[in-house]
Amino acid sequence: MNSDFSQRWADFQAQTQQQLDKLLPAADAAPSRLHQAMRYACLDGGKRLRAILVYACGQLFEAENDVLHVPACAVECMHAYSLIHDDMPAMDDDELRRGRPTVHIKFDEGTALLTGDALQAFAIELLSNHPALSALKSPTQLQLISILSKASGSQGMAGGQGIDLDSIGKQLSLAELEVMHEKKTGALICASALMGAICSENVSEQELANLNCFADHLGLLFQITDDILDETSTAQTLGKTVGKDKADDKPTYITVLGLEASRKQAQRHHQKALTYLEKINKDIDFLMQLNDFVLDRSF
Ligand code: IPE
Ligand code: IPE
Ligand code: MG
Ligand code: MG
Ligand code: MG
Repeated sequence: MNSDFSQRWADFQAQTQQQLDKLLPAADAAPSRLHQAMRYACLDGGKRLRAILVYACGQLFEAENDVLHVPACAVECMHAYSLIHDDMPAMDDDELRRGRPTVHIKFDEGTALLTGDALQAFAIELLSNHPALSALKSPTQLQLISILSKASGSQGMAGGQGIDLDSIGKQLSLAELEVMHEKKTGALICASALMGAICSENVSEQELANLNCFADHLGLLFQITDDILDETSTAQTLGKTVGKDKADDKPTYITVLGLEASRKQAQRHHQKALTYLEKINKDIDFLMQLNDFVLDRSF
């Protein structure tokens, strides 16, 4: 990672934390237990990859930062909700997330369920009501809501999580696995890139199509590396329990392809992502390095 990239990444992370801190309901506002849990799930942790994609893809086309804060925070709230429910006993039954107890351990299962529900609604509320978005041309705000809700629902993240639950103990083909991963993880990553870009009035249909293909491959790359790290990393480094996929008998890139072929598949998606990115005639340097980071990441 070069220092410009690291600095810009850290700046985006800091902006995300600051904006979420400002926008989320205060911990002492009633119902305070729910608001405490919402803040616990969203603040002080996470790589912020999805928010960073919103900022970076928006800035690629000179979108206003004041506008970008809103979809950046919305997608991080949606993502935090997906993690809370993913960790619950009815799903992956995990006790560690971002180096801390998961929400249902720190609070209780009922609160975890409701915190996920509330964060999902909060994400849509932000996109619907935040005054900064009144600066956008009229269909864009609705498009933001449409992109995020579609990416989160039964054709996107929740749908992929449904396939994940249905696939326990089964062997999937590579094509089936990639459909599951594209939905459960790729959809929100893709939505992040598109939401950032449409906040600009200077983005063409062709640029959006290339960005979409870039983010599709980046999303798959991200889940391949997640599967690899579950097999090869430590809880200390990842901040979550490792070896869970095998223990839960989940089909992953590791079970479908094996470790070495999974690494090759990661390189293939990294290369494809780069090919689409290079079709965009803008300063793509940061996004190229983000693509490299996802390939080589250790956390
Ligand atoms: C974890 O996402 C869940 C997946 C979709 C693989 P991240 O690895 O982006 O989680 P945080 O936000 O950095 O904690
Ligand atoms: C989760 O995938 C994807 C989500 C939609 C949250 P995983 O179950 O592999 O994510 P981790 O490994 O628990 O972060
Ligand atoms: Mg899961
Ligand atoms: Mg999980
Ligand atoms: Mg995982």
